Amino acid sequence: MPADPPFLASVAVLYRCNSRCTYCSIWSREEADPAYDDLVSTLDALAEFGVCLVSLTGGEPTLRDDLPALVGHARRRGLRVSLTTNGLALEPLLLRELAAAGLDSVILSLDSVDHAVYESVRGVPIGRALSVLSDAAGLQSEGKGPRVSVNAVLGPHSANSMVHLGQLCRELDVALGVQPLHAPFGTQSRKPQRMIAMDAEEIEVARTAVEDLLSLESEGLRLLNSRAYLYGALHFLATGRVPASTSCPAGQSSMAIDHTGAVKLCWSLPALGEVDEGLAFLWSSPAYARARSEAEMCDCPQCWLTCHLDERTISWLHEHLRDDG
Ligand SMILES: C[S@@+](CC[C@H](N)C(=O)[O-])C[C@H]1O[C@@H](n2cnc3c(N)ncnc32)[C@H](O)[C@@H]1O
Ligand code: SF4
Ligand code: SF4
Repeated sequence: MPADPPFLASVAVLYRCNSRCTYCSIWSREEADPAYDDLVSTLDALAEFGVCLVSLTGGEPTLRDDLPALVGHARRRGLRVSLTTNGLALEPLLLRELAAAGLDSVILSLDSVDHAVYESVRGVPIGRALSVLSDAAGLQSEGKGPRVSVNAVLGPHSANSMVHLGQLCRELDVALGVQPLHAPFGTQSRKPQRMIAMDAEEIEVARTAVEDLLSLESEGLRLLNSRAYLYGALHFLATGRVPASTSCPAGQSSMAIDHTGAVKLCWSLPALGEVDEGLAFLWSSPAYARARSEAEMCDCPQCWLTCHLDERTISWLHEHLRDDG
């Protein structure tokens, strides 16, 4: 068992969504929102367990009216808080409320600045997604808001226009993290299944996108991925598997808690217990140890959730925790 509790816990604060992404099935589920008090209990349990950073996700977290209250509660309990959002409902007032509540970082999911590409993959118009990015970047530059980064999915839909997204991030001085398209959450299995594999021509386009991002980095883009990670991502997109020597650290440094309070090693693997059973108890349980050692072998077809744990992303997180005190 790792000596320390996980650095990061992702918490799904609901499963509803206002988007219709083609690569995500969450929006199609009909699941009741967790009660505010249950989420508060989860945040309390995470704080007591010693987790540093809680990442609020979903579904689309900004659809909860009590999101600023949840952020405020987590901060008062000593947790650092990041929010992953599609930004569509992130009105300027809500952004200011979240900033006032102490939100540390906002991760805006945006694969392309091209309106047609956005709509074709996300199933809804681009709407406020771009203005949210500039609003949040403006607050960040005034030192009045959370750190801003973009999380972009690299796949056949976005490779062609990735360079434009990189240019925009550089202009706005927001960090950009890329993750390759992977199988929808919850569909990983250790049984062989159809791979998401891009053909040779598509891979060449994706390779150009990676090279363009690396050039933009040398011109000032704050890229959250290392070169090794990005080339590993190309391998993943071509074969559906992570490079042979990769070891998944998900079981050491993070945990995922879904909208029902189920505790998972990562979003794609089955629940190992419930928050109510005690996080320290679960973390040190034989079932968790077994899942952890299987995860280390990274034998999960079509998964690249290790993206969240790229070495450079982790150091960026540590850096920003240090900066903000
Ligand atoms: C599940 S969403 C939840 C939060 C919020 N709705 C959003 O989109 O930011 C979290 C992140 O997962 C990414 N994501 C979802 N499905 C994916 C897939 N099949 N491959 C790669 N990334 C995916 C999204 O782009 C988003 O950045
Ligand atoms: S990726 Fe996010 S925005 Fe898209 S459907 Fe899934 S939960 Fe909604
Ligand atoms: S590779 Fe890691 S993140 Fe992906 S399903 Fe396996 S354990 Fe989870």
